[in-house]
Amino acid sequence: MAEKLEFHDRMLSLGLARVSEAAALASAKLIGRGDEKAADQAAVNAMREQLNKLDIKGVVVIGEGERDEAPMLYIGEEVGSGNGPAVDIALDPLEGTTLTAKDMPNALTVIAMGPRGSMLHAPDVYMEKLAIGPGFKAGTVTLAMSPSERVNALAAAKGCSTADITVCVLERPRHEEMIKELRTTGAAIRLITDGDVAGVMHCAEPEKTGIDMYMGSGGAPEGVLAAAALKCMGGQFFGKLLFRNDDERARARKAGITNLDRVYTRDDLVTGDVIFAATGVTDGSLVPGIKREPGYLTATTILMRSKTGSVRIMTYRNPV
Ligand code: FBP
Repeated sequence: MAEKLEFHDRMLSLGLARVSEAAALASAKLIGRGDEKAADQAAVNAMREQLNKLDIKGVVVIGEGERDEAPMLYIGEEVGSGNGPAVDIALDPLEGTTLTAKDMPNALTVIAMGPRGSMLHAPDVYMEKLAIGPGFKAGTVTLAMSPSERVNALAAAKGCSTADITVCVLERPRHEEMIKELRTTGAAIRLITDGDVAGVMHCAEPEKTGIDMYMGSGGAPEGVLAAAALKCMGGQFFGKLLFRNDDERARARKAGITNLDRVYTRDDLVTGDVIFAATGVTDGSLVPGIKREPGYLTATTILMRSKTGSVRIMTYRNPV
């Protein structure tokens, strides 16, 4: 009988950092070149190549799309050498394709890994998201609260004025009403054009990023990745899948989701210990982007393990 190998996150984490580094380095030449697709493709190719060098029996559970719409890193694709523990992989080879194409801040390559069955197989639909950093009681803010109630509750918990709270929101027409309501509280709003994985991660380090809370809807796959990041960094995350039509509901059922109205907490989305790596493509508040120096490219990666709460920021200088 084949030996059942354990998921040794400590051993695998450095390998995971290499995967996200490779994707960022590959997309570097496409920063600011106005070509989202090429930037994404370069990151996908590099991520897949590196992932297949790892000694894992991996399955992509959050990936580039369904098998018929993504030739590589599609949901269900088996990755790794096949010699190692059975793991689930959630990835976004380039989180912020437009940010990269326009050389705007906070584009990242992102990947998370956990034992088989540890992450929700989220369909490619929207998710209503809410996140705050560590150190608050459970239930300090909830999805059931209105946006202004959340600001008031967080300010009370922090012992500050609502004017001292900064909320990060994706700038989209669908968020106009929410933004209008948030303005009534006097809170500051950091509007981002893309990249809500970074937006959520920013809540975990408010002193560094200036962001206290994230709210609004964005991609559900990005929601699982953000939950994996917060599981390592600390912080609360809530997500509820949003469906615009029957086709999206069918996608969720196909992914094994039975309760379509469920509010997921961080630990419902990511049930086991995970490792998480993200490399800066363009400059961000958590990690700088790729730097070009004569003869070198430098990539900075944040590598984290939920089991220990360890966070490493690693700089890799790659001769070119
Ligand atoms: P890309 O990786 O495709 O560039 O998506 C970035 C992103 O901004 C995510 O961070 C976010 O969850 C989603 O798109 C929001 O979707 P939409 O642009 O449809 O509002």
